[in-house]
Amino acid sequence: MNHRRALRAAVTVAVTGALAAGMAMMLSTSASAGTTLGASAAEKGRYFGAAVATGKLSDGTYVGILNREFNSVVAENEMKWDATEPQQGRFSYTGGDRLVSHARANGMSVRGHALLWHQQQPGWAQSLSGTALRSAAINHVTQVATHFRGQVYAWDVVNEAFADGGSGGRRDSNLQRTGNDWIEAAFRAARAADPGAKLCYNDYNTDGINAKSTGIYNMVRDFKSRGVPIDCVGFQSHLGTTLAGDYQANLQRFADLGVDVQITELDVMTGSNQANIFASVTRACLAVARCTGITVWGVRDCDSWRGSDNALLFDCAGNKKAAYTSVLNALNAGGTTPPPTTPPPTTPPPTTPPPTTPPPTTPPPGPGGCSASVSLNSWTGGFVATVRVTAGSSGTNGWTVSLTLPGGASVTNTWSASASGSTGTVRFTNVDYNGRLGAGQGTEFGFQGNGSGAGMTPTCTAS
Ligand code: G3I
Repeated sequence: MNHRRALRAAVTVAVTGALAAGMAMMLSTSASAGTTLGASAAEKGRYFGAAVATGKLSDGTYVGILNREFNSVVAENEMKWDATEPQQGRFSYTGGDRLVSHARANGMSVRGHALLWHQQQPGWAQSLSGTALRSAAINHVTQVATHFRGQVYAWDVVNEAFADGGSGGRRDSNLQRTGNDWIEAAFRAARAADPGAKLCYNDYNTDGINAKSTGIYNMVRDFKSRGVPIDCVGFQSHLGTTLAGDYQANLQRFADLGVDVQITELDVMTGSNQANIFASVTRACLAVARCTGITVWGVRDCDSWRGSDNALLFDCAGNKKAAYTSVLNALNAGGTTPPPTTPPPTTPPPTTPPPTTPPPTTPPPGPGGCSASVSLNSWTGGFVATVRVTAGSSGTNGWTVSLTLPGGASVTNTWSASASGSTGTVRFTNVDYNGRLGAGQGTEFGFQGNGSGAGMTPTCTAS
């Protein structure tokens, strides 16, 4: 089905009371308001990303905005099947690697898009069917997820597999014709290839509770009940001039299944409602604890696949639009619920009497310090650590987290922090967009390691 036609069909739902109510909130900002999208989202424990066309990384205006405003990227086309496996068994990662290295150099996380999709398949795959196609598809998932292992925060493992309209069922495609279990087979292969990546199902026209989103909801519920590895659902959110009144409720019902949710390809039709809709989507994500971040599908209006819809946050000259300001204000004013990570460490009751030795000469960090907790996703021979930093009552201008790795373990890749050293005691220092935290606010960084990461105890120092 034509995507644009489907998009237009999707945007007929009425503007909501929530939208109007949210407009009032937009006007206030907190004292610790961030000044860029990425910094403000990080203060709320979330990311704010953009789809990037690597061909534009030589455009100074484009890169200037990207590096200033965003702390997450996704490849608009470079990690798709036609780009990464143009001939069967011959893989090409030039564009994807370039984006990953840009992200690493600038402390950004990476969303991976998309391992399997009925569109943008290479010609050779389009001509396959049955077992040959199934094997080729699973091999593709395995190879690509293995190549980018440890570099990708979340993968769109399967993209747009559900039909538009009222059926709530799967879309017909060559992949679907290999058997209804092709989606779960893809998720299992992706988990085996990159155990540290969050694995997402991603789709459009899912911007409220409707037949299509309910079909996906039922699949996710089924996957969770059967142990099929799924961690997140992406809501593309290619929006028109109205927003479904139950947009947030729809995100929440998925979150209640035990998956993260992410806004993955946000763009909004130009017009008098554009800024309000961008702000409403932002507020909805902040209000859902498991909404971990927002990605807009491009940087400037003229970079967008939607051309004359002028659907993004920056105009063609790179100036901030009203929609930009509305998103920033919504981020700064919005909910304080960070996405769940590890529960804060519980302090066991002391088993020995309090020490009677004199206090150390260096006073313990006061309430103005910070704390850190670590959660691990481990597999044989490796792990991904997610570290949550929380500011004390004075907030932070910067922070450093020290961790001592077990013997034999080493850090191979870090995101949203810069690491000094890779073995023994490693110090992770904030990058420019996530050092400043308001009182009690948190942010996350992560790293991948070889060996075992068990038993690491982080200590946090604020500046
Ligand atoms: O790079 C070639 C260029 O060499 C050639 O001259 C030109 C001629 O048409 O085509 C160029 O490739 C185009 C590519 O974008 C890069 O600009 C493809 O034709 C074009 O089909 C492709 O469109 C992409 C589209 O997915 C494909 O379906 C858009 O950039 C991309 O924004 C869009 O993204 C999708 C998401 O992946 C999934 N959700 C919907 C979203 C919007 O359609």
